[in-house]
Formats: sequence, structure tokens, C-alpha cells
Amino acid sequence: MIKKAIIPAAGYGTRNLPITKVLPKEMFPIGVKPAIQYVIEEALESGIEDILLVVSRSKNLIVDYFDESLELEAFLERNNKEHLLSKMQIPKQQLYFTRQPYARGLGDAIRIGERFINNEPFAVLLPDDIIMSKGKHGLCELIDVYKKKQSSVIGLKEIEQNMLHQYGVIKGKETKSGIYKMKDIIEKPKKNPPSNLAAVGRYIFTPAIFSHLNDLQYVAGQEIQLTDAIRKLLINEKCYGKILSGKRYDIATPKDYLDIINKVHYLNNM
Ligand code: UTP
Repeated sequence: MIKKAIIPAAGYGTRNLPITKVLPKEMFPIGVKPAIQYVIEEALESGIEDILLVVSRSKNLIVDYFDESLELEAFLERNNKEHLLSKMQIPKQQLYFTRQPYARGLGDAIRIGERFINNEPFAVLLPDDIIMSKGKHGLCELIDVYKKKQSSVIGLKEIEQNMLHQYGVIKGKETKSGIYKMKDIIEKPKKNPPSNLAAVGRYIFTPAIFSHLNDLQYVAGQEIQLTDAIRKLLINEKCYGKILSGKRYDIATPKDYLDIINKVHYLNNM
């Protein structure tokens, strides 16, 4: 089964400068929790047991946040504020950290996790894509498809035509409602996107993805694209796409970020 996940969080966050100079996008607050915590909780509630967070030298804030806060806990105990201790219950035990030395792309961040994954199928969750579901978590929906197909599965969303050039867009055949057998995936198509179905930040991969990622050469100024490895994977293996039923918020986008803050505020005050 799918027990391990990689969460890449080492990008520069250039779209959200200048705040991302000091505050990683993954730590943008949503209510009283940072964005990445929602994604970690989704992984754990979907049955993931061990998570590798890929960070960078300038993202120690993420590591600090998930560390113990013994002084603060002692302070709360001394000052009759024990009721606040439950707020400090952040998943810590199942988290592992490593660094990506240079932000050379999502594909490069994922391949750093190869030894951690140790030849098992695994999940990838992007911490800047938050999927709010009424029912099953987005990752859970992909795991359900994996259980049936024993193949890689990519989370999809229908995206407006004029935004497709920002995504990896799939070509595929619907085999069952909302499930597509993939034929191809095109990274950021400038024109003629093959469909309106784009990969959003949830994936399950067979370990074969690593050999394809490792085959990709870094060229200065270009990122190592996960999409290129998926295209190679498709030559030898079946790969499916599943439309996620939850609402997706891309927290790098001001509108989505405001929308999710309002949504969480509403849910917390219901
Ligand atoms: P993005 O595509 O949003 O890139 O990465 P980014 O660098 O963070 O932001 P922009 O495009 O410059 O504004 C999606 C996820 O992959 C991680 C990011 O941290 C983010 O969580 N990532 C990206 C890495 O871990 N390493 C990379 O080299 C690139």
C-alpha cells in the first residue's frame, strides 16, 4: 500500500516575492495553521505513515515549526494555560527532512527522495495546493484508484481554457467517470492544449519514476520537469488521471489565498 510521501517545499516562491524572501509560501497562514500543515494532515489522514519534506537552506522556518517547543510547553504548564497545549499538537514523529541544494525544479526535488522511498509506490503532495474536500481527501481518492489499477495516478482538475498554459495538461481516454487512462502530458502548452484537464498537486507514482527522473539532465536556466519523467513513464507503464472532487486552492494566487482564508474562517466559526 501507499505508506510514504514526499512533500517538496524547496522552491523560491518567486511569484509571491517580496514576502517569500523571509516567509516560505508553504508557511503562509490559513487561520492559525500554515498551509503545509493542511497538506501534511491530508497525507496522514489518507494513511501515509512517513513523510519526507524537501526544504532548502532558507526554509528552516518549516523545520522549526514542526520541532518540539519545550520552553513554550513548560511556560503554558507553569502559567495555568494547559488548555492551550492541544494547539501545539502538530504531527512531528512521522516527518523527515532533507534539503535540495539548488532549486532545480520539482522533478529534481522529488528525485532527492529516492533512497527514502526505497523502491515502493509513493505519494507526492505539493504544499501550495490545498484541496478542501467534503468527503474523502484528494490523496485518498488517488489511493483508491491505485488499489484497483496498481499504476501511477495523477490528481486532475478541469481548468479554464485561458489558464491551461500554466499547467501540465493531459491527453487521455475516460475509462470510468472521472478516471482517465493517460496517453500524454504536455507541460505548459502555449497553444492547442490536449484537453482541459491539468495535473494539480497530488500524485501517486510507482518507483519506476525515479529512473526516469535520474535520466533527466539539468540544463542551466531550465528546471528538471516532473512532466518529462511522467512522459517517459508512460512509454513503459500505464498511468491514470483522476479528477479530484474537492475544491482546489493554489495559495500562490491572491484570489485563491483569500478564498481559502475566508473558507477556513467560516468553518471555524460555524
Ligand atoms: P512551484 O512551481 O510553485 O515553484 O513549485 P516555486 O519555486 O515554489 O514558486 P514560483 O513558481 O517561483 O512562484 C511547486 C512546489 O514544488 C516545490 C515548491 O516549494 C512548491 O511547494 N519546489 C519547486 C521544490 O521543492 N523545488 C524546486 O526546485 C521547485
